[in-house]
Amino acid sequence: MSYQNILVEEENEILYITIDRPSKLNALNRDTIQELHEAFSEAKDDNEVKVIILTGSGEKAFVAGADISEFADFSPEEGKQLAAEGHAKLFDFVANFPKPVIAAVNGFALGGGLELAMAAHFRVASENAKMGLPEVSLGVIPGYGGTQRLSQIVGKGRAMEMIMTAGMIDANQALQYNLVNHVTTQEELLEFTEKLAGKILNNSLVAIEGAIKAINASYEKGVNGFEVEMNEFGKAFGTEDFKEGTSAFLNKRKAEFPGK
Ligand code: COA
Repeated sequence: MSYQNILVEEENEILYITIDRPSKLNALNRDTIQELHEAFSEAKDDNEVKVIILTGSGEKAFVAGADISEFADFSPEEGKQLAAEGHAKLFDFVANFPKPVIAAVNGFALGGGLELAMAAHFRVASENAKMGLPEVSLGVIPGYGGTQRLSQIVGKGRAMEMIMTAGMIDANQALQYNLVNHVTTQEELLEFTEKLAGKILNNSLVAIEGAIKAINASYEKGVNGFEVEMNEFGKAFGTEDFKEGTSAFLNKRKAEFPGK
C-alpha cells in the first residue's frame, strides 16, 4: 500500500513505521492516524512482520502532537469523537497490538506524540528527545490516553506535575522517570532499538502475545490480571512453540520457534 504521511519498510522481520511529516514536526493529522491504522492492521496479518519499530522522520521530532490546526474550531461533541476515534484506530490499537511495538523517540514527543509513544509497549529515546503533555497550555487536556498512561508509567505525582505545568522533560529525566527504558545518541537510536528487537525475535512470539495481554490486563480496571495470566499460561501449553522451546532446552540446542 502507498502512503502520503508515513513510511513503511520491512527488513529482517522488523517493520519500521516512520511518521513522515517533518515540516510539521510529524504532527498527527487525521490522515496520518488513518494511515497508521492501516499500516498496523496490515502488519497484524503479515506473517513476515514480527516486531514493529515506530519512529519519526527528520532529526527534530518523533511527533510534536495532534495536529492543532485540525481541531481548533471543534465543538465538545466533535472533541469527544476525535478522542474516541483516535483510541480505536491508533492508541488502544497499538497498546493492545499482539506483536511487540517499540517507540524509538528521536526528538519532540509532545501531546499526542508522547501518547503514541506511551501506547507502544516500551520506549527508547535519543539524547535530544523532549517529552511532555502540553495540552493544558492550549486549554484542553490530553485526550489520547495521556492522563491514564502517563500516571501508570511515571506515577501520579509526576504525571500531575508534567500535565499541570505543561512542561517538557529531557531524555535523561525521562529515563529517571521510567518513561523510556534506554537513552542513546541520535545516530545510534535505530541500531540500538534493532538490537532489542533482535533479542525479542529469538523468543516465541506466540508466548510474547500472551504476555502482552497479561501485562496489559493488570492496568485494566475490573479485569483480574492474575486470571488473564493463568489463562494465557495455560494456552501456551497447547502451542507448537512450547513443544519446541522445551524440547530444545532439554536437548541442549537453540530453539527454532515455528510461531504457532
Ligand atoms: N500541530 C500542528 N502543527 C504543528 C504542531 C502541532 N502539534 N507542532 C508543530 N507544528 C508545525 C508548526 O506550526 C510549524 O509549521 P509552519 O512551519 O507551517 O508554521 C512547524 O510544525 C514547525 O514548528 P515550529 O513551532 O516552527 O518549530 P519550533 O522548533 O520553533 O518549536 C515545538 C517546536 C515542538 C516547541 C513547537 O512546534 C510546539 O510547541 N508545537 C506544539 C506542541 C503541542 O502543543 N503539542 C500538543 C498538541 S495537543
